[in-house]
Amino acid sequence: MSEQLTSAEIKKQLDSVFSDELVECTKPLLQNFQKLMAYYRCAMMEIETKFNVLDEEFSLALDRNPINSIKTRLKSVNSMREKLKRKKLDLTVSSVEENLYDVAGVRVVCSFPDDVYMLANALLKQDDITLVEAKDYIKNPKPNGYRSLHLIVEVPIFLAHEKKPMKVEIQLRTIAMDSWASLEHQLRYKKDYNFDERMANELLRCAELSAELDARMDALRDIVQNEN
Ligand code: GTP
Ligand code: MG
Repeated sequence: MSEQLTSAEIKKQLDSVFSDELVECTKPLLQNFQKLMAYYRCAMMEIETKFNVLDEEFSLALDRNPINSIKTRLKSVNSMREKLKRKKLDLTVSSVEENLYDVAGVRVVCSFPDDVYMLANALLKQDDITLVEAKDYIKNPKPNGYRSLHLIVEVPIFLAHEKKPMKVEIQLRTIAMDSWASLEHQLRYKKDYNFDERMANELLRCAELSAELDARMDALRDIVQNEN
């Protein structure tokens, strides 16, 4: 989730996905698309700043930083196209805005599971944030062991002449959940072997161990905080 797509990079991706003729005859469409992507970048900046502010505030109160890292990413043109095709939706700019809720993605990695909920609640209490959808894969992990708290929120961006609500997908997770997810992603998408049942079972066991590690870290933090 680290790369930030610039307008030039978006143009390059579009050029590689569509033919030259198509790119030429759809210039206004491309401009609209680039504008929409710029809006999504602004929305990610708003959300990232909100989390940085919360981190700053909590670090004063708790004497530690609840956030370990924040990463933002814009969905690639090809992934947007694939998703719209998969869902049998129109391949248009307005269809991207109406139907794809994960074009703008912000991933917040915390040290402790309790911090995930504390930060999510603090964000959702803000009066310019609207919750569109929440999926708690920490309380209800996916069958493969995946854990994270997913929120789709709407945040307004303030432009010169209008205020525009934009959707952002936020994934909140601990360091342990994050390292499991990136390992699982790597193993699942490796092309040189079949991801078999034995590997899936082993990964599930790793997820269970990492959940136990998180629970023990939360308990340890409680002990340390009560000592002070
Ligand atoms: P998508 O079509 O993938 O967006 O499905 P969805 O809209 O049902 O979204 P969901 O909230 O389940 O997951 C969205 C994102 O969470 C994915 O794009 C991944 O970044 C992450 N994710 C979800 N499940 C897994 C998983 O099993 N493993 C890993 N590594 N990441 C996952
Ligand atoms: Mg999604």
